[in-house]
Amino acid sequence: MSSRTVIRGGLVITASDEIHADVLIEDTRIAALASPGSQNWSADRTIDATGRYVIPGGVDAHTHMELPFGGTHASDTFETGTRAAAWGGTTTIVDFAVQSVGTTLREGLDAWHAKAEGNCAIDYAFHMIVSDVNEETLKEMDLLIEEGVTSFKQFMAYPGVFYSDDGQILRAMQRAAGNGGLIMMHAENGIAIDVLVEQALARGETDPRHHGEVRKALLEAEATHRAIRLAQVAGAPLYVVHVSAAEAVAELARARDDGLNVFGETCPQYLFLSTDNLAEPGFEGAKYVCSTPLRPREHQARLWQGLRTNDLQVVSTDHCPFCFTGQKELGRGDFSKIPNGLPGVENRMDLLHQAVVDGHISRRRWIEIACAAPARMFGLYPKKGTITPGADADVVIYDPHAEQVMSAATHHMNVDYSAYEGKRVTGRVETVLSRGEPVIDQREYTGRAGHGVFTPRSTCQYLN
Ligand code: URP
Ligand code: ZN
Ligand code: ZN
Repeated sequence: MSSRTVIRGGLVITASDEIHADVLIEDTRIAALASPGSQNWSADRTIDATGRYVIPGGVDAHTHMELPFGGTHASDTFETGTRAAAWGGTTTIVDFAVQSVGTTLREGLDAWHAKAEGNCAIDYAFHMIVSDVNEETLKEMDLLIEEGVTSFKQFMAYPGVFYSDDGQILRAMQRAAGNGGLIMMHAENGIAIDVLVEQALARGETDPRHHGEVRKALLEAEATHRAIRLAQVAGAPLYVVHVSAAEAVAELARARDDGLNVFGETCPQYLFLSTDNLAEPGFEGAKYVCSTPLRPREHQARLWQGLRTNDLQVVSTDHCPFCFTGQKELGRGDFSKIPNGLPGVENRMDLLHQAVVDGHISRRRWIEIACAAPARMFGLYPKKGTITPGADADVVIYDPHAEQVMSAATHHMNVDYSAYEGKRVTGRVETVLSRGEPVIDQREYTGRAGHGVFTPRSTCQYLN
């Protein structure tokens, strides 16, 4: 049975336009936009968006639901994590399926499908973490692309776990150059970092703040530079994930000025948090341990600049939550044993709206870096990431004037702390539609596990 929803009176914001318009949704898709009040559309449901923004649902292209890490698992399941994402105005996640060393990509991908299927409140897609590059894996990359898994993460960090050496990276990049895949790089020199970790621990430097000190900005920049050159040699595009150091942004900017197909992502934690948080007393700093690490706050200006000048294209969360109690605590007395990762899938759209309020970015750039660019980067556009006839009706009614205070007491992520505890922001999600169905309705959760479906992706749309 067909259903019609009309959203009236709001300011529709996309990456390219801001227009006062009414929006007609038929079943799961956007059917039309029209000047306010100009059309007498009949509807089963009318949403009054007067004084509100009408924006595309967020696309978070970097999450780790249930990721095994450091002897434990990320604390959000696909069910809890996608519900929290919806609360925060995100309607699509791209999560990382994991190939462990000694297994195939197929086994890793099947395991991730099994975790997600029937459990998600919003739509989801997968990247593939490639930990074991060999002849079989390289062939499997081609097959995954046909199944809509078109991007592959490699790690220059975490020796002995996810780490690939330069030869393995080059081989995967050469394959991507031929099959249209996009290599996503965790760019930190993990071999050098492990030496510095060992030396720090030997000196008795065991507190969380030392995590930031050993994972030096220069070692992020060096790895970023090396990844760019390897991609250039392979003739492949490159997407560098979770960029945090000013020096790494400079490497990306230089490569892009040289005309290379090099892209960069940063995350809210690098824009809003700093080594001051890692240095919080009494092991509180463990809450902020992630890799790449938080940097001194001076780096933030370069990240904002990169987002304005398009040297950085995407803001994703790298949502990888571990509870303070029982999980982060595994690293008491040894910072290298603190599971790496921060919660944030629920906070991204609001924090980036706060960046609009603070004057760092424009409203349209907010939508571009949070919705349209990640959708284009990962082959989901215009199904996701915009409001246009034919697009999925993933729509957020956003109140730009509401005030909120971020807190673990009120968030919906399955984690016992907020990285932004007590932070006051202006703007809040009011209603969220996922393919036309209300998931959040006037700040009531109306979604259900299983509504979200696997969404196959085309290859990167910045390369077409
Ligand atoms: O600290 C982080 N980023 N944890 C998740 C794994 C990764 O490297 O993205
Ligand atoms: Zn990473
Ligand atoms: Zn990650």
